[in-house]
Amino acid sequence: MIVQFDHTSVLLSEAVEALAPQTGRRYLDGTVGGAGHACALLEACAPDGTLICLDRDAEALAVARQRLVHFADRVQFFHDSFDQAEALLAEAGLLPVDGALLDLGVSSHQLDVAARGFSFSKDGPLDMRMDPSRSLPADALIDSLSENELSKILRSYGEERQSGRIARSIKQARSSGQLNSTAELAALVEQVVRPRGPQRIHPATRTFQALRIAVNDELGALTRFLDRALGLLAPAGRLAIISFHSLEDRIVKQTFAKWANPCRCPPTIPQCACGEKPRIRLISKKALRPTEAECMANPRARSARLRVAERIEIDEDLAVRR
Ligand SMILES: C[S@@+](CC[C@H](N)C(=O)[O-])C[C@H]1O[C@@H](n2cnc3c(N)ncnc32)[C@H](O)[C@@H]1O
Repeated sequence: MIVQFDHTSVLLSEAVEALAPQTGRRYLDGTVGGAGHACALLEACAPDGTLICLDRDAEALAVARQRLVHFADRVQFFHDSFDQAEALLAEAGLLPVDGALLDLGVSSHQLDVAARGFSFSKDGPLDMRMDPSRSLPADALIDSLSENELSKILRSYGEERQSGRIARSIKQARSSGQLNSTAELAALVEQVVRPRGPQRIHPATRTFQALRIAVNDELGALTRFLDRALGLLAPAGRLAIISFHSLEDRIVKQTFAKWANPCRCPPTIPQCACGEKPRIRLISKKALRPTEAECMANPRARSARLRVAERIEIDEDLAVRR
């Protein structure tokens, strides 16, 4: 069965250029989704470069398989979260890789399918799981949280300033059995929030984003991935990460900064005494942003940031494994 899967890849040429793919090398796409980046990477590393594709969404992975069928002899697929990438690739004898890409968040397809429960504009169950075989759906997560915990999630992951009022209403509606679908949640938030200035986005946007991030432990997965990411990369291997949220971008930015400049010596001493050596080189100091033309064509690109690092440390373990 061919699944309709609409997703426009963001920062496509920038991400592929950043990874500088070469024939004969091995790459990882940790968030293959609709395979837009994957296809461009496979074309760029033809005829002999290979790509390992991961997604925690089985439906996305099935679509990626179909779309990449012409590259079948150069591509492998795994249904898992990218925070498992190092263990998974080690077990499969596929370490190290010469470049890795993460294009974070959800695909437009996930938002478009009502039954997945991601969207306030399409009525569906309160689910929001990228991998429905793992973790709690949104309704069960809400029920497991206190009003205060829910409010904190809405504030920190959604930057929702009216988080307290929304959390209270959500908890009340859940306990009286009146909140069971995404349309009901969107209507509830619309009723509760006080409009502040001109409304550019639906009032429920931030609440949905926060719940989705919490349901899928998106920041936890990114942090766990970064904890092991240097173990994935061959020397001179590159890591490119596209984020859509300031919290994600901050995690990437701070981790890259720590890797690039790990010295813990006080600035007053003339020479480094801690011995910590840089492990990466930043390919660009600032995050790359989409062009105005890309944002006009695809408004979802507006918040995108691409950060790229290149591994410079020669790790003996990796040298042995290669
Ligand atoms: C923005 S889309 C990727 C789109 C893709 N780059 C393209 O060009 O079509 C993000 C994808 O990452 C997947 N994803 C999000 N978090 C993940 C995780 N922790 N592990 C694996 N896949 C994840 C989602 O299921 C979704 O398919």
